[in-house]
Formats: sequence, structure tokens, C-alpha cells
Amino acid sequence: MSESGKRRFVVAGTGTRGTAMWIQPMLERFADDVEPVGLFDINPGRARACNKLTGGNIPVYESFDEMLEKAQPDALVVATTDATHAEYVVKGAAAGLSVYCEKPLCTSLNQVKAIRAARSKSDKPMLVTHNMRYYAAAETMKREIMNGRIGEIKHVIFIETLDRFHGADYFRRWHREIKNSGGLLVQKGSHHFDLVNWMVGSKAKTAVAQGSLSFYGKNGPFRGERCSNCSHAKECFFYADLFAKSGTKTLFNDIEQIDGYYRDRCVFGNEIDIYDTMNVTVQYENGVHLAYSLIAYASYEGMRFMIEGTKGRLEWTAVHGTSWAPGSKERDNATGLEQSGDNVENLVYFDPYHVKTNLTPESRDGSHGGADPMVQQLVYGRIQPEDQLGQKAELEDGIQAVLIALAANKSIELNGQPVTVQTD
Ligand SMILES: NC(=O)c1ccc[n+]([C@@H]2O[C@H](COP(=O)([O-])OP(=O)(O)OC[C@H]3O[C@@H](n4cnc5c(N)ncnc54)[C@H](O)[C@@H]3O)[C@@H](O)[C@H]2O)c1
Repeated sequence: MSESGKRRFVVAGTGTRGTAMWIQPMLERFADDVEPVGLFDINPGRARACNKLTGGNIPVYESFDEMLEKAQPDALVVATTDATHAEYVVKGAAAGLSVYCEKPLCTSLNQVKAIRAARSKSDKPMLVTHNMRYYAAAETMKREIMNGRIGEIKHVIFIETLDRFHGADYFRRWHREIKNSGGLLVQKGSHHFDLVNWMVGSKAKTAVAQGSLSFYGKNGPFRGERCSNCSHAKECFFYADLFAKSGTKTLFNDIEQIDGYYRDRCVFGNEIDIYDTMNVTVQYENGVHLAYSLIAYASYEGMRFMIEGTKGRLEWTAVHGTSWAPGSKERDNATGLEQSGDNVENLVYFDPYHVKTNLTPESRDGSHGGADPMVQQLVYGRIQPEDQLGQKAELEDGIQAVLIALAANKSIELNGQPVTVQTD
């Protein structure tokens, strides 16, 4: 703790999320609550670029261990690539820090073991920043379930359709290789599996899954190394000038010679080995069934989350505009989702007599449906929000989300055989 009573934070991973979600707010909204005392990134050029973009002057360290030793932090935020989270979570726990890790908590069963062992030796707060729990509709849904509105949950359907702008972005960079991200079931699905686990209030027992890479990668009609030097730029739907945005240029393009991180790799690259098409069914210990589907090349972006109980059904549907995504062509189109007013969230309750009640909460300001500012308050705020809904995701919650994804990946490898989710 600094003399002014501010908690001292270090951040590992100063990319897009580290910079915008974690470092910028420390310097602005939470400047009276917390003090950033160190940045570490495998590419120190990116940590310096983060300082440049945020106007910060936070010490940049070239070694994580040295940062912990010299900066004497109270707390650590982990916003590195998915497969590297576990290393820092474990080290942060061993150093007696409060640890806040981006989702997915980890990407392998060995990491699950290491994190559980580290957690058992720490008495400090250690959370996974599962922000979907903080969407207004998610909160309403959870409250309705806790109040008994739909009775006992029996069946859940979750469908996520990422469109060809946002969805494609997972194929441009590190997420595209399973060794970095665990694939989209871990990287993206962990959001959704956590949400379902939280609503259902039970642990997953078995998973059965199918998946394929059927649109991106080797399926493309042509390919190049990256958009910025591609001879197919004119004819390619996925061409994107990522570095037209000066922030992305500073954070990636200007320093890419240091680590070879090309932010605009070809979505048809032959090395892509994650799935873009996935279906999973899960059975929970309390008997609930989940049917889950995820694609990354949809014609529009949206989500359907339906929970059927003995007394009725909750349905959260969302249609999302993606004009912010790299290469988006939506903004040129007069019938785009945002312009047409179709960029909406809806939450409804149906009783078994087909009577429908609109439960859609007011929308909130801020990224990810207003969830991110709430998670920042949870991590940085001196004043902590009440947690009547049990929204805080502990490390074990993060593990439970990842375990479903890992079991589903295993089932895909085994051509759809059922796989046990829980592990010691
Ligand atoms: N909760 C959400 O809604 C949300 C949204 C976006 C991203 N995220 C998560 O945030 C994390 C970062 O995503 P991003 O979009 O910022 O990616 P990014 O590529 O912009 O940033 C990742 C950073 O990690 C650094 N890095 C890679 N390996 C490292 C290592 N071994 N040690 C230290 N640094 C390393 C990279 O150099 C890069 O700066 C991911 O885990 C992602 O899932 C969460």
C-alpha cells in the first residue's frame, strides 16, 4: 500500500485489453484509489507504447520477477495471451499478491492443477474478470432465477454467432493457434460456459462435442502473409487496414520488429488450427442439459441464451453491431445493424401459458454492455459493490468454465465421444 493508502498494481500484458481496460482507468477514473507501479510485457516495446498511448509514465520492466521484487506491488492484473495467464497467476499467488486474471483463466489441465495448488496456499483475493456476469441482462436473469421465477432449471440453449468482422479477428492473430488460446471454445466459450455455470448453479459432468475449421484457414480461396502486404487486398472480403487507427499502429505495427507479432495476419493462413464451427452438449451434476453452439463467420453478430425451468422460460437475445471491428464494412451500409436500430438486447420471460413479460433492463454505458466499468470498480475501487448475486468469479469458477471447454475439445478429437469434465 502506498503512503496515500492507494493499492499498488502491476500489470502483465499491455496489449489492447491491458491498455484500454486496465491501465487507462488506473490513470484516470481510479487515480485516487490505485497506483500503477509496473508494467511487464514479453515485448517491452508494447509496454512503452502503452505508456505513450495512455500518457502514463509507469516503470516498464523487462522481467516479471524483477518487477515483483522492485515495484513491491499489492496486486497484479494478468492480461497476457491466454496460454500464459497461469504462469503469472501462480507467481502472483506465491508472492502474496491479490490477483485479477482475464478470462480464460488458463488453457490446459496442467495449468488447472498448478493454479489450484497455488490458490490453496494464498489467502488473498484472486478473481477471474468474467465480465459477462455484469451485463445488465445477466444480472436480471440471475436475480429472476434466484427469486424462483422459472422454478427448477432443466434445459439451457446458448448460441453465439460471431460475425465476419469481429469473428474474423480471432483468425488474424495469436488466437488462431490452439497452443496460444486453447481454441475458441476456451478463448470465447469460457465466457459463456461461466455464465451458464453461474445460472445453473451446478458443475458440468460430461461433454460431447463436434467441431471443425470449415470457413477460415485452409478453406480460403487464396492467402497471403498479412493484409498490409497482400496482393489479394482488392478482392478479399477480409482485407483490413488495421493500422489506419493510430492506437493500433502504435501498439502493434510500430514495434512488430521486436517480437514478430503481426496484428493483421491472413485469416486464410495455413497454420490456423482452431475450429470456427463448434457444437457442444453438456450434462450437469444436477441433471441440467446444455446445448451450446458457436460459429465465427455469421452474417450478423448475436447471441441467444434460453433457460427453461419448471415454471417458465427466460430468453436473452442480443444482436450486436460490429462497426468497431477491424475490416468492418458495416459502417458503409445504410441497412447496417446499428443504423437500422437492430443493435439491441432483449430479455423476456414466458410462462407455460405463452404469456410473455418483458424484463429487458435499461442499457448501461461503457464497453461490453457496461460490464467493464463495473468489473474495474470491483478490481480497483476502494468502495466495493455489494455481491448479492454472487457475481465475483473466483479462480475455481474460471477453472470450471475452462474445464468444459477442454472436455469439449477432447471430445472433438475423439470424434464426439463423451468426456468427463471434472478432474482432480
Ligand atoms: N473479458 C473480455 O471481454 C476480454 C476482451 C478482450 C480480451 N480479453 C482477454 O485479455 C487478454 C489479452 O487480450 P488482448 O486482446 O489484449 O490481446 P493482445 O494481443 O492485444 O495483448 C496480449 C499481450 O500479451 C503479451 N504477451 C504474450 N505472451 C506473453 C508472455 N509470455 N508474457 C507477457 N506478455 C505476453 C503480448 O505481447 C501482448 O502485448 C486475453 O486473455 C483475452 O482473452 C478479455
